[in-house]
Amino acid sequence: ASSGDETATFSMPIYACQRRTTLDHRNAVFTEALSLLAENAELSQDEGRAVAFRRAAATLKAFPEPLTDARQLRGCPCLGQHSLSVIQDILENGSSREVEATRRSERFKAMKLLTAIFGVGAKTAAQWFQEGIRNLPQLHQSGRVLTRAQQAGVAHYDDLTQSVTRAEADTIGQIVEEAVGAKLPSARVTLVGGFRRGKLSGHDVDFLITHPEEGREEGLIPKVVAHLEARDFLLYHKNNRNSYTEASGTPASTMDHFERCFSIFKLPMPEGGEPHSRQDDVALRRGECRRWRAVRVDLVVCPFSQFAFALLGWTGSKLFERELRRWATQQKNMSLSSHALYDNKQRKYLKAATEEEIFAHLSLEYIPPSERNA
Ligand code: GTP
Ligand code: MN
Ligand code: MN
Repeated sequence: ASSGDETATFSMPIYACQRRTTLDHRNAVFTEALSLLAENAELSQDEGRAVAFRRAAATLKAFPEPLTDARQLRGCPCLGQHSLSVIQDILENGSSREVEATRRSERFKAMKLLTAIFGVGAKTAAQWFQEGIRNLPQLHQSGRVLTRAQQAGVAHYDDLTQSVTRAEADTIGQIVEEAVGAKLPSARVTLVGGFRRGKLSGHDVDFLITHPEEGREEGLIPKVVAHLEARDFLLYHKNNRNSYTEASGTPASTMDHFERCFSIFKLPMPEGGEPHSRQDDVALRRGECRRWRAVRVDLVVCPFSQFAFALLGWTGSKLFERELRRWATQQKNMSLSSHALYDNKQRKYLKAATEEEIFAHLSLEYIPPSERNA
């Protein structure tokens, strides 16, 4: 390796699921820039570009030292021309013109603001933007008919755009465990999503629920929801029934078919706590005291035999999951979902009771949740 230059080259595996990616890393300036471009591509519904930027950002999250010279990146995967030029721009000028222009653009700002409304996706926001809607007052004035989810999203906008703390996630965990325990003793509640990966804050709280006797978990969501509603813990919920059968099991699909509930919790706040949101400030100026805040919560119920797959699928990160499925398809001729792993060559489902067994089926080194932050 004595080609006459002094920069060491790292050999980095291609798929993010082959790498250990922790929350803290050395190149935030670069990963934040690339993530913003990924977000912008997502808001423009350009999935291909979004994934390319996400993969490039993930490469830099896994890069072991601060980047000072683009030559350090030789041998690193998933860095296309576009991402490299953004990186080069930051190295030379401290920031990327494209990123800063995007950040300031009217479209990006409005699309971010509108998609931050619970129940509003990129497609709806783009339509509204087209019609000249840029913010909540303009949305209100437009007289647009909103779905029930969007109405809740607007009503609790300030709370829901405020991140959820780990302490709040734990409090909600206790409330969920109490409700589940009351309806189905010895059911198991597991905190998944970003908090399981060790994040200190999140946009919501995700729980996976199962019961060791398969079948006992069926129909649990409506019962738990009724229990929570009776105790005034829910501001909004939408239940989905389980629609999974092995026959219908779409191979390597992102969407799953579990019984679930997308909800907004009414989380009691400790008396005399610090104000959280602008709504708090308003309430406090009016001399009112806010005793609760709204928090997004996802509840997912799975049959015990699918627990390991659901746990792996709901722990994330989104890119890590995508890379696992890509690895399974491209390298192993298998189809991975949050329900099962199918071996296309052997034409059979591969069972697993733990995440470790799934990694082993895929011939991957086991990566713990805290190192899945790709
Ligand atoms: P924050 O909530 O923003 O902190 O991050 P997060 O990683 O927890 O993201 P999110 O709550 O959106 O999702 C958690 C995990 O569940 C991710 O790995 C997603 O891919 C996965 N997930 C979310 N929604 C679905 C879904 O509808 N189906 C499936 N199969 N997985 C989902
Ligand atoms: Mn989450
Ligand atoms: Mn979620």
